[in-house]
Amino acid sequence: MTGRSTVRSTGRSAVLFMLAFAACVAAQDPRYGDALYQPRLRQPGKDVMWLPTPEPMVERMLAMAKTTSDDVVYDLGSGDGRLPIAAAQKFGAKAVGIEYDHDLAALARRNAERAGVAGKVTIVEGDIFKEDFTRATVLTLYLLPDLNQQLRPQILAMKPGTRVVSHAWDMGEWEPDTTQRLGDGEAFLWSVPARVEGRWALRDASGFFEGEISLTQRFQRIGGTLDLRGNVQPLLGAYVEGDIVGFTFVGRDGGIRSVRARVDGGTLAGSLNFAGSLTPLTGQRR
Ligand SMILES: C[S@@+](CC[C@H](N)C(=O)[O-])C[C@H]1O[C@@H](n2cnc3c(N)ncnc32)[C@H](O)[C@@H]1O
Repeated sequence: MTGRSTVRSTGRSAVLFMLAFAACVAAQDPRYGDALYQPRLRQPGKDVMWLPTPEPMVERMLAMAKTTSDDVVYDLGSGDGRLPIAAAQKFGAKAVGIEYDHDLAALARRNAERAGVAGKVTIVEGDIFKEDFTRATVLTLYLLPDLNQQLRPQILAMKPGTRVVSHAWDMGEWEPDTTQRLGDGEAFLWSVPARVEGRWALRDASGFFEGEISLTQRFQRIGGTLDLRGNVQPLLGAYVEGDIVGFTFVGRDGGIRSVRARVDGGTLAGSLNFAGSLTPLTGQRR
C-alpha cells in the first residue's frame, strides 16, 4: 500500500465517519419546522418550554376524548399546531391553538395550510392565561403540573361534559376518569362534572315519587341521602358524569329504583327506572 493511498483511504473513512455521525445525530434529534423556521426541542417558552407531543400520542389523546366533527378542540400552548391540525384532519373537528411564541404560531398556521385544514384550524397568538377558551368542547394540554393546577378552577367552571386530555401531567386531587399509557408516555382524561352539590326537590310525572336529595361533591365524586317523606336513606352508587347525575335507592315498597337525569343549571330532567319501566322525572335546586 503506498503512502498516498493510505492518506486517501483515511480521508474517505473520516468522511464516512462524519456522515454516519451526522445521520446518528439526526436520528436522535429530528428536525422540526420548515424552511422559514426550525424550533429547537426544549426551547424556552413563556411558562413552559416547547416539546412536541409524539404523533401517536396526539391521535390517542383525541381518540380518548372521543373527538368528532361536532367538537371544537382547543390546545393550550399549541406549539407547531400538531394537536389542532390532527383534530381537524383526522377527526373532522374545528380546532383552535393558543400559542404565545410568535414564530411557533406562524409555523403552526403554515403547517395547517400545508395539511389542507387552514379552514378548520385557527391559531391564536396569545397567552393561555388571558385568552378565552370557554367555547371548547375538548381541551388538550401538554404543560406542567403547576400550570394544570393553576388552570384547574377555570377548567372546572367550563360547560359540564367538556372533555379535557392532558399529556404527561395530571390535575392533582382531581382524579382522571381514565389514564392511558402509550410507549413511555401517559395521557389523562377528565369530563368536567356538573356542579350538583346541595339540595334538590325531585318528583316523577305520575306524582307517585316525590322526595329530596342532598348531595355532597368533590370533583366527580358525589354522595348523599334521599328523603322520601321523612324516610331518609343513603344514595347508592351516586355518580355525576359531565352533565348527567344518577343514583339508585330502595323504594318504600322495598323495590330498587334508579334515577338518571341531565343537569341544566338549577333544574334536572330525566327518568325514574323501576324494573325497566321509565317514568319522566324533574328536579329543582332548593
Ligand atoms: C410542551 S409544549 C406543547 C406543544 C403542543 N401542545 C404539543 O403537545 O405538541 C408547550 C407550549 O406552550 C407554549 N407556551 C408556554 N407558555 C405559554 C403561555 N403562557 N401561553 C401560550 N403558550 C404558551 C410554549 O411556547 C410551547 O409551544
